[in-house]
Amino acid sequence: MRAVWITKAGGPEVLAVRESPDPKPGAGEVRIAVRAAGLNFAEVMARQGLYPDAPKPPCVVGYEVAGVIDTLGAEVTGLEVGQRVLALVRFGGHAESVCAPVERVLPMPDDLSFVDGAALPVNYLTAYHMLFRVSQLRPGMRVLVHMAAGGVGIAVLQLCRTVPGVVTFGTASAAKHDVLREEGCTHPIDYRTEDYPARVRELAGGEGVDLVLDPLGGRDWKRGLGLLRPVGQLIAYGFANLNAGERRSVRRLVGQFSGVPVLSPFTMMNRNRTVSGVNLGHLWGRPDLLNEELTALLELWSAGAVKPRIDGVYPFAEAAAAHRRIGERGNIGKVVLVP
Ligand SMILES: NC(=O)c1ccc[n+]([C@@H]2O[C@H](COP(=O)([O-])OP(=O)(O)OC[C@H]3O[C@@H](n4cnc5c(N)ncnc54)[C@H](OP(=O)(O)O)[C@@H]3O)[C@@H](O)[C@H]2O)c1
Repeated sequence: MRAVWITKAGGPEVLAVRESPDPKPGAGEVRIAVRAAGLNFAEVMARQGLYPDAPKPPCVVGYEVAGVIDTLGAEVTGLEVGQRVLALVRFGGHAESVCAPVERVLPMPDDLSFVDGAALPVNYLTAYHMLFRVSQLRPGMRVLVHMAAGGVGIAVLQLCRTVPGVVTFGTASAAKHDVLREEGCTHPIDYRTEDYPARVRELAGGEGVDLVLDPLGGRDWKRGLGLLRPVGQLIAYGFANLNAGERRSVRRLVGQFSGVPVLSPFTMMNRNRTVSGVNLGHLWGRPDLLNEELTALLELWSAGAVKPRIDGVYPFAEAAAAHRRIGERGNIGKVVLVP
């Protein structure tokens, strides 16, 4: 099979399409002929050597795929060869073929395309899990969404629309604001030219927000905490600020880590604040939670409440361009790889 390999840490030029033997499904696993695989920010950081969870290069990453089951491992029940499925995989998804344990595989609705199917698991699960499990999104809440035009950001905006009266503040480059409005963002903010905390405060009548979803990390976590009104919650779910272009910068790493706020339960108690963390990759041991949430998402998709916005579909041979698209902040929505 062909797969997109990260040959060593570095810029997009370290990616290479290589042949390797087809994987064999173990007991309780199925093998999926991949038709589309999502490219995530984490995988761009993995290529740069900035994602500690990734396997050591040379490696094949990829957390999510849509495709067709072509082989069943021993003891598999409830799934069949030829079935269209989507799956969460812990790496190896950027390949023509990948094995997945049955508990992380879900049948796809007939009218869901492989490309859209591959765009759902990571981005939409992250958004759903934050809004409806870790937080309890209620009518009228004010939500600050960073990286609002990215895959998770757009999923968050679409899900916020399913609850009446939610007010969203979305940070993104100015060129992406029309799309943000289309996706339901109440207040797009250009974080590159504006002091976003000041702008959020102004738009919120000086009062702050109820929920900050922050995948930026470092100093932005401190800014987010300062924007919470009483009973507010900040969910930390990424550290995109470590990314400073295509290569690792030690200066930036030190600057960002030193900006991480030191938290005290006393302050949180006295200010009625909550800080939560989300890392889907570390919820691997809870397929029950993830499946319940993914099933709810497929129902929302069937009802037309959510729809992945695809920025671009890249053949494996153009994986470097796909990585560049995200690394250079060009994408609006999801970048998908196809064999
Ligand atoms: N914890 C979890 O389980 C989990 C799961 C999925 C994703 N995440 C995190 O969520 C974040 C978003 O992921 P995604 O896949 O939705 O991202 P994405 O689609 O790749 O979004 C990339 C966009 O983010 C914006 N951005 C803001 N700051 C950036 C920076 N420092 N470097 C590069 N781009 C930056 C850029 O657009 P503008 O400049 O126009 O804003 C860029 O186009 C990432 O931090 C990711 O690690 C966490």
